[in-house]
Amino acid sequence: MTSTPLLKVPQHVAIIMDGNGRWARQQSLSRLEGHKRGSDVARDIVTTAARIGVSYLTLYAFSSENWRRDPHEVSGLMALLKHYLEDEVEELHKNDARLKVIGERDLLPNTILDLVEQVEELTKSNKTITLQMAISYGSRAEIIHAARAIAEKVRDRRLDPDAITEQIFEQHLYTAGAPDPDLLIRTSGEQRISNYLLWQLAYTELVFVDKFWPEFTPEDFMNALLTYQNRERRFGTAA
Ligand code: IPE
Ligand code: IPE
Ligand code: MG
Repeated sequence: MTSTPLLKVPQHVAIIMDGNGRWARQQSLSRLEGHKRGSDVARDIVTTAARIGVSYLTLYAFSSENWRRDPHEVSGLMALLKHYLEDEVEELHKNDARLKVIGERDLLPNTILDLVEQVEELTKSNKTITLQMAISYGSRAEIIHAARAIAEKVRDRRLDPDAITEQIFEQHLYTAGAPDPDLLIRTSGEQRISNYLLWQLAYTELVFVDKFWPEFTPEDFMNALLTYQNRERRFGTAA
């Protein structure tokens, strides 16, 4: 590990946990075994993030587009998600972590939805870290959902079109109330956003890591934070 001190901890880190399938193939394992290993890594990264003072961590666990995968993989991922929630609830609560799921909840199986609601309710007053799990999440779907909610308010004369500002729009996104991510990490070597937080990433620093998610370690996480701290964010101001 590098000896550079971590001086500037990002308030909000978003991660695209990619490469479980390719890692599994490389190890001659099934894709589901790759996802299983990936969920162990997610657990470690949540703990690390909380320990170093990150206030919001948003993990991309399952995209709206991932529903189109082989039904066996989809049901395996849902089962894994259920186990993750069941196994982690105590640990999350003990670590003063608040869970919030962002995504199209209506599409989730009832067993998962009930569990999500229970964990959210139990942890809602926790303060140390907010874990936003993006499940059945797609950013375009989120933006359409917000546009529809705003249009309904306008139709019912509860909102004046002239009053629609960026702040008002944000309040209708699944991420309402959370600050925008300061840092986005994507593993697996792919350099794309894949329909993740399109609105929220407007000024986020992007770090792409050349490792598959199951190989990603707390040290890699720290290195991404060190890369972030050496970036100069300008938000449109002159250099
Ligand atoms: C990320 O790994 C996990 C999910 C998308 C659910 P992938 O399953 O996308 O793994 P690769 O990218 O095919 O290797
Ligand atoms: C993004 O990864 C979604 C998650 C990590 C959950 P994908 O593997 O689905 O994205 P693409 O297909 O490479 O763009
Ligand atoms: Mg992938």
